[in-house]
Amino acid sequence: MIRSVVVGVGSELPQNIMTNNDLAKFVDTSDEWITERTGIRARHIAGEGETTKTLAVAAARQALSNAGLSIEDVDLIILATSTPDHTFPATATEVQAELGITKGAAFDLQAVCSGFVYALTTADALLKAGQATCALVIGSETFSRILDWSDRATCVLFGDGAGAFVLQAQKGGNAGILGSKLRSDGRHCMKLYVDGGPSTTRTVGHLRMEGREVFKHAVVNMAENMLEVTTAAGIAMADIDWFVPHQANKRILDSTASKLGVAREKFIITLDHHGNTSAASIPLAFNHGLQNGLIKRGQLVLMEAMGGGFTWGGVLLRF
Ligand code: UT7
Repeated sequence: MIRSVVVGVGSELPQNIMTNNDLAKFVDTSDEWITERTGIRARHIAGEGETTKTLAVAAARQALSNAGLSIEDVDLIILATSTPDHTFPATATEVQAELGITKGAAFDLQAVCSGFVYALTTADALLKAGQATCALVIGSETFSRILDWSDRATCVLFGDGAGAFVLQAQKGGNAGILGSKLRSDGRHCMKLYVDGGPSTTRTVGHLRMEGREVFKHAVVNMAENMLEVTTAAGIAMADIDWFVPHQANKRILDSTASKLGVAREKFIITLDHHGNTSAASIPLAFNHGLQNGLIKRGQLVLMEAMGGGFTWGGVLLRF
């Protein structure tokens, strides 16, 4: 049986850090409000010359080095992003060129904050189908470029960054992706959206969100999906070593943990320093867990996300 094994992990954050107090200098908000309502204290913001591509390339290089592999080994790149460098070509192809990879295929995948679990599931399917043998799965975002910096309800929530996994098709062994489940419900597509696009306004647009509605659905959908994924794999929730959820709001994660009856200490949290980095948040949090000696080889990790569309999904991994 072929399994998609995570053999390398990497991440990258822009140099520039913006704290809640920095924000309060130009938006009607406070460190107290943001910390209490979201758990976010700071976020990284891309500077001049830093783009979704440059962050993705840095994260991918680190993941390949962590895997002990080279560009020659990679024959698939899937880049989850909602903030591509250009409307087209896919930023994944720009990353492919920058890395010097000339074989296989590269494409972008757009499922907003659920992008990374969608990309992992897609890569897993392509590896199992024999379409590729080694995939770079990247989540990279520059949401700071689509924020309305005068809208305090949204601009305080997001940040920029990138994270990457190297997935290798391996036979035998018990490591790898054990199961996943993707969902969407387009009836809610205008509850979290960008009010521009090439075919409508011919502009890039700004992020708009009905925060409370998203919050409500996030807790219910994520908890249900996590149960579905673990049950299908025959794994008890109590046996999961680490939960690496999408990092949107600490209160969403606390409510999800309560709903499932799992210890909050098993949730890897990075939103305090990163804010919500959309498709990049799961690999960034995963790498944080790895670098800090929390996540170890052989452990069971459940990754879970919910975002615009609405889209949501989970991936169960034996690391
Ligand atoms: O990645 C997936 C997508 N995103 C999410 O999952 C986000 C989901 N939603 C949330 O995290 C929360 O709904 C928010 C953090 C966005 C908002 O928290 P909330 O507790 O739902 O607040 P609210 O929107 O109901 O607003 C409460 C009050 C309002 O004032 P009034 O009407 O009660 O006087 C807002 O105007 O807080 C006000 N407010 C702020 N005050 C200071 C909203 N944003 C801010 C702000 N600073 N930044």
